Amino acid sequence: MLLFPPDFLWAAATAGQQVEGHNFNSDWSEWEQLPGKIKNNDSSRIACDWWGGRWREDLDRAQALGMIVQRIGIEWARLEPQPGQWDAQAAARYREMIAGIRERGMEPFVTLHHFTSPKWVAERGGFENPEVAQWAAKYAERAAQEFQDLVTFWITINEPNVYAAQCYFLGLWLAQKKDPLLMFRVLKNEIHAHATMYHAIKRVQPAAQVGYSHHWRVLEPLNAGSPLDRLVTGLYTRVFNEVFFTAIEEGVLRFPLGLGGAIPKVKGTQDYIGVNYYYQENVAFDITRPGDIFGRRVVGPDVERLHRYFEGAGHLDPGALYRLLLRMKEYNKPIYITENGFVATDRDDQVRYMVTHLQAVHRAIREGADVRGYFWWSLLDNFEWSEGYTPRFGLYHTDFETQTRTLRDAGRVYEQIVRANGIPDELVEQYPIKN
Ligand code: FCB
Repeated sequence: MLLFPPDFLWAAATAGQQVEGHNFNSDWSEWEQLPGKIKNNDSSRIACDWWGGRWREDLDRAQALGMIVQRIGIEWARLEPQPGQWDAQAAARYREMIAGIRERGMEPFVTLHHFTSPKWVAERGGFENPEVAQWAAKYAERAAQEFQDLVTFWITINEPNVYAAQCYFLGLWLAQKKDPLLMFRVLKNEIHAHATMYHAIKRVQPAAQVGYSHHWRVLEPLNAGSPLDRLVTGLYTRVFNEVFFTAIEEGVLRFPLGLGGAIPKVKGTQDYIGVNYYYQENVAFDITRPGDIFGRRVVGPDVERLHRYFEGAGHLDPGALYRLLLRMKEYNKPIYITENGFVATDRDDQVRYMVTHLQAVHRAIREGADVRGYFWWSLLDNFEWSEGYTPRFGLYHTDFETQTRTLRDAGRVYEQIVRANGIPDELVEQYPIKN
């Protein structure tokens, strides 16, 4: 048995817009109605119907699997539908939900911003507007006042780098602009928004544990012998992974966001490191793609097969997660893997992914990485953004017509691991880690 440390936090994550439904004041709800934005014209109108009350039965399911933590999101668009206007009813509903997590013996991790904003924020330029840092801080302060007796762990912003890249570099979501310079500005505003949110929560609740979830893309040159592949991979790594993280951790705005100037108010604004990791990717230099900073992402045949299930799938590489966790050691902060997961396919990919990645986490812990928790994405199949209901990451299968849930093999295996606080030998033998 590969045992995990005592008190290790096992969980499955969810996010507001993806499970709640009926979130009519969010920018996403408005945008997704435009034709062709979401695969199969799916919509998050009902999603998993948590707002209709199904959060109760799904939290029962999380409890039944033995979970220690439940990660959820709360929606800014519900709590502050107009600037400065706090919706007491929505707050009461969230209170019940968060208390419901505690009543079931679990600890809540609460995300304040998971890709979606109120329409009024978007109308004022959203994260393109530096004032967003003040708006977000007021929202965070109010949320901390409201829920401080129930919540210790806060996640300010989920994957600010993914948000910036999807909306302002790839031009796919929401603002749909393809402009690297604007992406740099948005990243900068997100850095300040995170920091002001951090300070606002800490003022209300000094003992809170506050961080953000960083999507780590482990990028490697397609051809390690090619200086151009290495160069463009280095650039991507800096822009996508590093500039945000070093701003928060070291309080320095590195090129291309700045010229190395100090931002003292931002320095050290994370009490833990939140890691979202999915896959490793190869990058090649491509002279024909100046708009993509001369880079091209390359996928192999194995990944092409997986694309039938999940458009984003890169190379599944538990070793990349292990290497990443070891790199995080130098910051001497607790690490929570706030998301890691894979879709159900016609093979056992989901279980294999889970068992091999958990072996990588275990190995990193053995070698000194202070990983305190692992949150599978996701508890149940939900609304996967522009991919709609196609990719199915759940421990539970969701039938969106009837709203019935069915436990998958991955759910059964996860329960076994969670209850044992370790990976049983049979699973390690069946799914050995290769790198
Ligand atoms: C992450 C998101 C999460 C989910 C997974 C599959 O980037 O944070 O909401 O969509 O990907």
